[in-house]
Amino acid sequence: MKLNLFYFFLPMIEALDIEERALTGAGGGHGERVAYLAYLMAKPLHFPKAELMDFVELALLHDCGAVENLRNLRDAQVQGREYTETLSDGRVIQGANIHAILGERLVRQLPFHGNVKDVLLMHHECADGSGPLGLREDAINFKSQLIFLPDRMDIWYDLPHLKQEDFLPMMETMASRAGHEFSQRVVDLMKRTIHWEDLRRMQEEGPKSLLKQYLPNDETEYSREQIHALTGFFEYIVDNKSSFTKDHSEGIAEKAETMGNFYQWNPEKTERFLLAAALHDYGKLTVETDILEKPGKLAPAEFEEIKSHVKWTYAFLNEIPGFEDIRDWAAYHHEKLDGSGYCFGLKGDALCFESRLLACIDIYQALTEKRPYKDGFSHQKAIAIMQEMADNGKLDGRIIHDLDRVFGPDGSHA
Ligand SMILES: [Fe+2]
Ligand SMILES: [Fe+2]
Ligand SMILES: [Fe+2]
Repeated sequence: MKLNLFYFFLPMIEALDIEERALTGAGGGHGERVAYLAYLMAKPLHFPKAELMDFVELALLHDCGAVENLRNLRDAQVQGREYTETLSDGRVIQGANIHAILGERLVRQLPFHGNVKDVLLMHHECADGSGPLGLREDAINFKSQLIFLPDRMDIWYDLPHLKQEDFLPMMETMASRAGHEFSQRVVDLMKRTIHWEDLRRMQEEGPKSLLKQYLPNDETEYSREQIHALTGFFEYIVDNKSSFTKDHSEGIAEKAETMGNFYQWNPEKTERFLLAAALHDYGKLTVETDILEKPGKLAPAEFEEIKSHVKWTYAFLNEIPGFEDIRDWAAYHHEKLDGSGYCFGLKGDALCFESRLLACIDIYQALTEKRPYKDGFSHQKAIAIMQEMADNGKLDGRIIHDLDRVFGPDGSHA
């Protein structure tokens, strides 16, 4: 199917910012601002269109390793140990710096147009060798440098509220870091490309809307294998939010594809449904992990926050042009046919077949998967519970019958 990856990644960055804030203290919109400034700096370098798109997407995603980094740090803290990663050359990396290694691993699988190796891995390296990997100026990928400078600018300064009189002093301070954090080459490029006018526009119009204006709006055809790489990326990020629901989106996406094949949908429709399945809990990135993992009963406000994840899923997918069907299939997965579901309170005919199907797959997956506090139910037990819900007018009985056929002991996917 055809996609513009830039639009596809854009909403995720908003969600990731929430994690990054917890890890690095960056303000909301950090990923978008870094992408916008990195784009300005790359413009005079005249990258071919595909390379430019890859670069801006990488700049947007530069901290995509933060969710996993944060979760591992949190888990290590609870277990009273240190969290480190060892590189192939034996070097040990600690703390928040690990997000660059994790981000590199994550984006390697994505269907970029060209070679993106090392860009994220090196995005915190300093020209004087004081960065996490200890690389010096010439050894640092130049695209990583083009991301690191705007990243520092945004971390060190409150760019959304920077005043005009503070612009030149900021640029002077940034330039004075040549030979320390930054190379002279990247500082020279910054001086040529970043002007007060650009920051003023960013403050007024927002980096997201400017990037949409400046970047080509082309779609690329992606194969099923590439769609799997994309869904795998999202599943990984969403499922890593909490160890409680690890593999949840992945299990749902697998079952969604199986059901698409069972209904003999055309490949494009199955791919769209697969995307909806992989992205259904997208909005959970906005929910506090402590709430997602709270043992025992949730306070009403906490339950409301958990329920709100589908509103966020809707809002995120609503930003992607041409995703209206995927948005509805994904965001209505907690609705019930009798209107008792959340958060939209839809009922009956307002819920199309695909939304009903995804709701059933979500419940089936949740019932059968293992969680830290429970074993998964057997297929028979899960189907029995769901059948009762269908008898009470909440789920579509025909779909439960089909799930039983496909995933039951006699089914082809048992
Ligand atoms: Fe970073
Ligand atoms: Fe960053
Ligand atoms: Fe959900």
